[in-house]
Amino acid sequence: MDARLWHEQARTETLAAPTPKTIAQLRAMSTSSRTRYLSHRRRWMRSLHFDTPATRQARQALTDLVEDNLTSMPGAKDVIAVTAPFAVGKSTLVRTWAQEQYRQIIEDRVHHSQVPTWNSNVGVVADEVPVVWLDLGAASKIRAFNIQFLQYFGYPIGGAIHDLTARIHRIVDAHRVRLLIVDDTNLLNLRHKDARDVLDHLKHVNTVLGQRGASMVLVGADLEDGAIFQDPQMAGRLRAIRLGPCSIDTPTGVAAWQETLASIENLVLPYLPAARPGILAGHHAPRLWRLTQGYLGDLARLIAEAAYIAAREDTWTIRIADLERPQLSRRAQHATPRLRETRAVKTTKPATAEAHAP
Ligand SMILES: Nc1ncnc2c1ncn2[C@@H]1O[C@H](COP(=O)(O)OP(=O)(O)OP(=O)(O)O)[C@@H](O)[C@H]1O
Ligand SMILES: [Mg+2]
Repeated sequence: MDARLWHEQARTETLAAPTPKTIAQLRAMSTSSRTRYLSHRRRWMRSLHFDTPATRQARQALTDLVEDNLTSMPGAKDVIAVTAPFAVGKSTLVRTWAQEQYRQIIEDRVHHSQVPTWNSNVGVVADEVPVVWLDLGAASKIRAFNIQFLQYFGYPIGGAIHDLTARIHRIVDAHRVRLLIVDDTNLLNLRHKDARDVLDHLKHVNTVLGQRGASMVLVGADLEDGAIFQDPQMAGRLRAIRLGPCSIDTPTGVAAWQETLASIENLVLPYLPAARPGILAGHHAPRLWRLTQGYLGDLARLIAEAAYIAAREDTWTIRIADLERPQLSRRAQHATPRLRETRAVKTTKPATAEAHAP
């Protein structure tokens, strides 16, 4: 990832929804226009990002914490950590939130293909890069972290570690960095003998950002179990946002699951003209949980695949068999036999809520 690609992704329009059609209209289509229509419908369904009460809350918490850092006294600020089991949707959530932050900061300039620029008070025109996104590689140490950071801006990456660190200071000012997001922080190598230095480096970068009101967001799998959370100085500054798969163990969990499915229904039902309202949030709710264990990525894929089968087979609704046919993720395949007994989800009338396209 670099600043140009980030800008490009922020300005890319989301895929337009296809026009909903009646069964009669669908059946009257020529083969070629039907193929085109179904391909568009499938790509659009695969591009949807679903919201749950928990993801909405997490986005709000991120916004509030970043705002607190912006307005509190200068100095080292809170470090924000987003932690969850693997594949829950951490990166997706933080990326969509950060892209929204980016669009808000650069406003109309998002429509230009060039990265926006600003005039510094010393008369230099520089790229304005308010959001930095780093994807850490396996066993990263300080040098790898610095190199990723410099590469994001297209700067040379040669030199001693302390020179690279000094460049980071200048870059934060020169490019008006407001938000540094470090994804896959669990890959930081905190087990080797220099682990202390890596942690100190993170704290140092946070101080550099904090002096300018900027925030660091660490995203990673099960960070609670790692050295970042155990370090006393770091722990004192950490504000953790925990995510998990949707659970149906409590009445609140069941209500949230149904609310999520109801919001998905609002989006996809116009494209399933033979399906009845309540088909996902009521009829299929327990089965959908059993097949996905509440992982949004698995849910999104399963619904898109089942809706595609419904179109190919001209049924235009989602039947039980359509949900059992798509190939599940390895994790879901592994868990499903143990969950054969469908969990009892009370099917009350679902609440409605919005889901959003990315
Ligand atoms: N809200 C969502 N709606 C639909 N699909 C989602 C949503 N969140 C995540 N996904 C999908 O789920 C899959 C996993 O998401 P993501 O990579 O964000 O998870 P992660 O927690 O960062 O995983 P990892 O632990 O591997 O870093 C991706 O295919 C993603 O597109
Ligand atoms: Mg991730």
